[in-house]
This record gives sequence, C-alpha cells and structure tokens, in this order.
Amino acid sequence: MTDPASTDPATTEPTLHKGLAGVVVDYTAISKVNPDTNSLLYRGYPVQELAANCTFEEVAYLLWHGELPSPTQLEEFETLERSLRPLDPRTKRIIDELPLTAHPMDVVRTAVSVIGATDPTLNQPGGTIDRKLNEGRAIYLLAQLPSIVAYDQRRRRGEQLIEPRDDLGFSANLLHMTFGEVPDLVVVNAFDISMILYAEHSFNASTFAARVITSTLADLYSAVTGAVGALKGPLHGGANEAVMHAFEEIGSADKTEAWLETALAEKRKIMGFGHRVYKNGDSRVPTMKAALDTLVAEYDRPDIGELYDALETAMRERKNIKPNLDYPSGPAYHLIGFDTGTFTPLFVVSRITGWTAHIMEQLDSNSLIRPLSLYNGPNERHIE
Ligand code: COA
Repeated sequence: MTDPASTDPATTEPTLHKGLAGVVVDYTAISKVNPDTNSLLYRGYPVQELAANCTFEEVAYLLWHGELPSPTQLEEFETLERSLRPLDPRTKRIIDELPLTAHPMDVVRTAVSVIGATDPTLNQPGGTIDRKLNEGRAIYLLAQLPSIVAYDQRRRRGEQLIEPRDDLGFSANLLHMTFGEVPDLVVVNAFDISMILYAEHSFNASTFAARVITSTLADLYSAVTGAVGALKGPLHGGANEAVMHAFEEIGSADKTEAWLETALAEKRKIMGFGHRVYKNGDSRVPTMKAALDTLVAEYDRPDIGELYDALETAMRERKNIKPNLDYPSGPAYHLIGFDTGTFTPLFVVSRITGWTAHIMEQLDSNSLIRPLSLYNGPNERHIE
C-alpha cells in the first residue's frame, strides 16, 4: 500500500499526492474497479452480468449483504422497501418550503438532512453505529429518495405528488411517481440498468466523503448528506446534467466539430468524458450505451444518437479521451422525460446503496481518516 506520508529519499520531503491520485487508503470488499481489464465487479460479479440478469433491488441487496438474495430474502426485502415509499409528510412540507430556484440536488441534500434530524434512534446508546439500525436507515433512504426526487420534479412543473404503488418494482414505481404512468417495459428496463450501473464505484469522491464523515463516528445521515454535496459537482455526478447542457449548446450532430474546437480552445472540460481511474474507457459505458440505443429507437430520436456518436468521435480524434457513464446516462434520462436538473438526483437514488454499504464497511473496521499536508504558507513570523 502507498503511504501518503511516505518520504521520498531523494528529497527527504514527504511525497505529495495531489487529489490523492494513486493513493490506496483502505481495503473494500464492496466493488473492484480494474482499469487494466476495463472491468467493474460488485461483490465479485461483473456489473454487466448484473445489469443483464438482475433487478436494481437484487443489486442493492447484494451490495449491502455481500450475496444475491434468495427468492424468500428478495420478497422480504421488496415488501419492506415498498412499505417505506410514501413520502413522509414532514419531509414534503420542508421540500414545499424550498424555493424553485434551489438546485434539485440541494433539495435532496436538505431532505436527507431532515430525515436524519427526525430519527429518534440516533439518540439511543450506540445508536449511530449500530449495524441493524444502519441497515434500516439505508433501506428507508432507498425507499424515500425516489419519492423525494419524483415529487421535486413534479412541483417544479406545478404538479401534485403522486402516491407510490406497492405493486411495482423500484424503477417502475419511480417512473410512475414522476410521470403519472408506467412507461413501456423497454423504458423501465433501460432506467433500471442505469440504476444498477450507478450504484457503486469504490472510493470515488462522494463515497470517500461519506467514509471520511463516518470515520469520525458521525451518523449515517450526516455521511450521506456530505456525499450528496460531493456528488453535486460537475467533475463528479453533476456531469450527467452537464452533458445535456452541452448537447443543447451543440444543437445537432453537424455542428459538433466546430463546437468542440471552440470549447477546447477555451480550455473547457467536456463533460461526460475522462475518468480519474479508467484511462482506456469506462467499463459501464457499453451497457448504458446499449440501453440508450433502445430509448433512441423507442422515442424515435435518431438525432440524439447522431449527436452522441459525433461528439464521441470528435473527442476521440481530438483528445483521445473516452466517455464515462454520465455521457450515455444524460441523454437517456432526457429521452425518458426527466428535467435536466433531476439527472444528478437520480444518481443519488442509485448511489445511496453504494454509499451506505461503504458507511457500514467503514464502521466495521474504523480508523479516523486524517491525512497530512505540506505547509506552503509564510515562514513563522510575529506581531510587531
Ligand atoms: N475534457 C477535456 N479535457 C480533458 C477532459 C475532458 N473531459 N478530461 C481530461 N482532460 C484532459 C485534461 O485537461 C488534461 O490535459 P492536460 O494534460 O493537457 O492538462 C488531461 O486530459 C488529463 O486530465 P486530468 O484532469 O489530469 O484527469 P483527472 O484524472 O484529474 O480528471 C476528470 C478526471 C473526471 C475530473 C476529468 O476527466 C473531467 O473533468 N471530466 C469531465 C467531467 C466528468 O465527466 N466527470 C464525471 C467523471 S465519472
């Protein structure tokens, strides 16, 4: 393991790892990102296999419990999740108080914080670190977040809350609560695949933020609130929203090269491209691109497919930088009918599973996360 405080013998200065790039800070048994083989495993299973064979609920169970559920375990899990879906009236009241100028991620962050502030079990002795209580909190957040995100999009359109349906799976219910109807199976499946692909990705910025907060023995809601804040940034989860803004700016496939030329000349980062860990392509992209293709066909929007291909090709030719998961997810959510501001909250709806799995793993063998820094301010001085 690389020690962040290790000393470079050539300089005797501690080695600095800007952005913690390349630094290994802990073990995890939750997922394995392997940039050399361009693969991602959740608890040992390739994510592509999970997307092809499992529902998001099964994947959530896998991330939390380490194994896929048996039919009985899945039924119990689904029954519990479905029973926790109705939006808590207090959370709804507080969302209603928030201005429509607030970014939807700020609404999600506030809602998670409200849920945390109203959980009486946090006050029990050991209540913040108890595994069973944390499992209950995780599934409660998983059930509430679709209701929060769907309702926030609806209120921005001047529409009323739609009650959840307990006869629908996770993704179908979220779509029902957002749009008032369950779309065709092809749409539900594409959305469910996006949920599976977004669920977990080792020590990314928001997960690491959650682990840092957990390492102080703060409660799960505090860690999730911090993680939502980290995910909001355009270098992380905010990129799926930013991809759609870029598509809108470009307008059509034939204008892509000129747009890219200008954007690169202005030293802009092209959202949805590049990755800190994957340098030869994001392992999740082919699966999500295939799901996007089904949506392009379903909604008869070849223009979106052409723009996607044009920007991908232009970025490869100009910079040799490949798309990440946010690149196909952004247009997929657009085609389904989500407002652009809702895209990153949808990422939260999925990643709550990975975050909370990491929070519980951190607590299982906790060590306060507290790195060192190199001081480069003024030399010691004194008030005259
Ligand atoms: N658009 C344009 N140039 C990019 C780029 C992008 N999306 N991603 C990387 N680059 C360039 C950098 O400018 C840099 O060029 P330079 O060496 O000439 O300065 C080079 O590629 C290396 O990039 P670097 O910023 O060191 O990579 P990183 O590992 O620190 O950054 C990201 C990774 C994800 C932050 C970066 O690729 C990015 O900002 N992407 C866009 C945001 C995004 O899609 N985020 C979601 C990630 S899942």
